[in-house]
Amino acid sequence: MISTEQRCPLPISAPENDQIRITQMSRQQGRCLPATSMPDREWWVKLWSQPEETLKIMGLQAGMSVLDLGCGYGHFTIPAARIVKPALVVGVDIDFPILAQAQQAAKEVPNCLLLNQDILTIPQIITNQFDYITIHSTFHGLPNPVEFVRQIVSLLKPEGYFSVVNWQPIPREQTIWLDKPRGPKTELRISPQKLLSIVKAATQRLVAVQQVDLPPYHYGIIFKLLCCLKY
Ligand SMILES: C[S@@+](CC[C@H](N)C(=O)[O-])C[C@H]1O[C@@H](n2cnc3c(N)ncnc32)[C@H](O)[C@@H]1O
Repeated sequence: MISTEQRCPLPISAPENDQIRITQMSRQQGRCLPATSMPDREWWVKLWSQPEETLKIMGLQAGMSVLDLGCGYGHFTIPAARIVKPALVVGVDIDFPILAQAQQAAKEVPNCLLLNQDILTIPQIITNQFDYITIHSTFHGLPNPVEFVRQIVSLLKPEGYFSVVNWQPIPREQTIWLDKPRGPKTELRISPQKLLSIVKAATQRLVAVQQVDLPPYHYGIIFKLLCCLKY
């Protein structure tokens, strides 16, 4: 079932009747962040051939509720739902046709909800709090990353995790995959140090607990939300 509701209910919950639900946003709302359009499957699924392993390396565990920001066709969203079932996984993407592909992939995965929304406005749209929020290969397009992180904190449970996967800050012409340079322009890439400083500027409550290399061209940092500090 594809609903054409423009707003999802507050708070959101798992789809009924084992159906994956997509709430479609109005066409006027939001826009795709720069350099974040979904890569062709041909090379993306080869680059990330073991998404479940990647998610586990990035700290995802059974039973965690998940928010996947800029989920694309669900290459990580669907494996995440399998890892955490029956906990809820919510995938958000602005590109409705891409999200429809995620729906197709999620046919047998009832604990997954797909929202056609702008990730910049998601904190105003849903009231749920999640154990694990992830943004994979999309952070570099944010217009105001400090403000974004500040707002995302409100969607994390105390001691929840915020996981960011980024392209390595190396020249684009060096990130060759299947014979072509891939990924965002060199100048858009964010180093691990820069990511750490953005999160620190946003809040003292998110502390980096792990940084991992995700070869050949990515890295990830996992942050944990401290429950005792207000700022
Ligand atoms: C590079 S793709 C990564 C997709 C997915 N995270 C993955 O790693 O397989 C970035 C995704 O972010 C989505 N996106 C871009 N701007 C967005 C926005 N403002 N709100 C929601 N999604 C957005 C794009 O449509 C695209 O599917």
